[in-house]
Amino acid sequence: MRRGREGAQVAWATAFFHLFPPLLLLLHRIPAVGAEDPYLYFTWNVTFGTVSPLGVPQQAILINGDFVYFPALDMHRAAGGFGGLRVNSRLLIPVPFADPADDYTVLIGDWYTKSHKNLARLLDAGRTIGRPSGILINGRPGKDSTGKDDPPLFTMESGKTYRYRVCNVGMKVSLNFRIQSHAMKLVEMDGSHTVQNVYHSLDVHVGQCLSVLVTADQEPRDYYMVASSRFTKYALSATGVIRYAGSNTPPSPDLPAAPSGWAWSFNQWRSFRSNLTASAARPNPQGSYHYGNINITRTIKLVNSVGLVDGKRRYALNAVSHSDAATPLKLAEYYGIADKVFKYDTIADEPAASDAPIKIVPNVVNATYRTFIEIVFENPDRSMQAYHLDGYSFFAVG
Ligand SMILES: *[C@@H]1O[C@H](CO)[C@@H](O)[C@H](O)[C@H]1NC(C)=O
Ligand SMILES: *[C@@H]1O[C@H](CO)[C@@H](O)[C@H](O)[C@H]1NC(C)=O
Ligand SMILES: *[C@@H]1O[C@H](CO)[C@@H](O)[C@H](O)[C@H]1NC(C)=O
Ligand SMILES: *[C@@H]1O[C@H](CO)[C@@H](O)[C@H](O)[C@H]1NC(C)=O
Repeated sequence: MRRGREGAQVAWATAFFHLFPPLLLLLHRIPAVGAEDPYLYFTWNVTFGTVSPLGVPQQAILINGDFVYFPALDMHRAAGGFGGLRVNSRLLIPVPFADPADDYTVLIGDWYTKSHKNLARLLDAGRTIGRPSGILINGRPGKDSTGKDDPPLFTMESGKTYRYRVCNVGMKVSLNFRIQSHAMKLVEMDGSHTVQNVYHSLDVHVGQCLSVLVTADQEPRDYYMVASSRFTKYALSATGVIRYAGSNTPPSPDLPAAPSGWAWSFNQWRSFRSNLTASAARPNPQGSYHYGNINITRTIKLVNSVGLVDGKRRYALNAVSHSDAATPLKLAEYYGIADKVFKYDTIADEPAASDAPIKIVPNVVNATYRTFIEIVFENPDRSMQAYHLDGYSFFAVG
């Protein structure tokens, strides 16, 4: 996989959503040009509350009393901090499909009924977090404890086309997403418009988001959407009901089968193509930049590993398991005290020997602004690794 990155210092393997509850987050959208766009202010009240998605009451991160968001550091994800933040293109930017009749957010993910503290204790005892307790779609497994379907999540009117934004907000398990009897036209993936192929099911990996257009072109009744585990020895799934407006026919109990094996997923991934001539959420013409012709200035190869450090199970890149310093890294740089807080380039561009002991330190790589860096990920383990690459100008090439 090759990814380009413009930017100054890059802190690897840190995730860039930091959450310190209780806290108040203010987000604003900054207009790129002109003064025609209003500023939007969102106030998030972040609290800790109780939810019981699988019937077991658990402490979870709540935003404005809702069960939302996607942090990736510490155990914040395990504490249920995830959610959808929808960013639409500005009106002057052409989008390569007609306005859908409605826009629906579908957050799918694995879920552990063990608390984030108990999961952390398992890791600290040298064990793994094990298998998840279930799969959720928008915070629910889809049925109550008696096996009765939850009320419909979404309604479609016959003949209309809807955009479903599907994100895997889980911790570990890749999921296959599908809707009974309905084809899905893929139009967007992680913020970029795609060449619009049609799929009957899609693998969605942890942290990945995509948008599909679904036309209500079937017999009016209820239909299930399904999210089910991939590449696992166990089979877990969740359902959600989509209702055709006015329907009172329940969904057919025959759920479409999930694909199996890795090859299917690789082949599906190879069918995804960016539409480089469609605008992204900014007005510069895409495709005016020929990424394929840019010379690579540096290659960084990252190999993931897992091992015990003082009896604790820790995951590492090139034998470094990232830990946050007490002072936020960018703040330390800003005040010119970085050398007191962390070291740059603890990892080399080439991976450490496979038996190198894991070090736990802040993992920061110094890179030069405007260079074009190829990053190769190698996973020698038998389980899926998902990476969240945060920043500007990343392109997955293979
Ligand atoms: C956040 O909490 C404050 C104080 O409890 C309250 O006044 C405000 O309405 C809350 N805002 C939202 C968006 O929930
Ligand atoms: C890519 O996007 C452009 C601009 O919206 C559109 O005209 C074109 O048909 C799209 N190409 C494909 C292959 O989807
Ligand atoms: C890449 O390197 C080649 C050979 O040194 C050179 O001819 C070419 O102009 C470079 N391309 C860019 C985009 O700088
Ligand atoms: C980062 O790399 C550049 C270019 O090699 C070098 O000049 C600079 O001193 C390095 N900065 C740090 C903080 O290591």
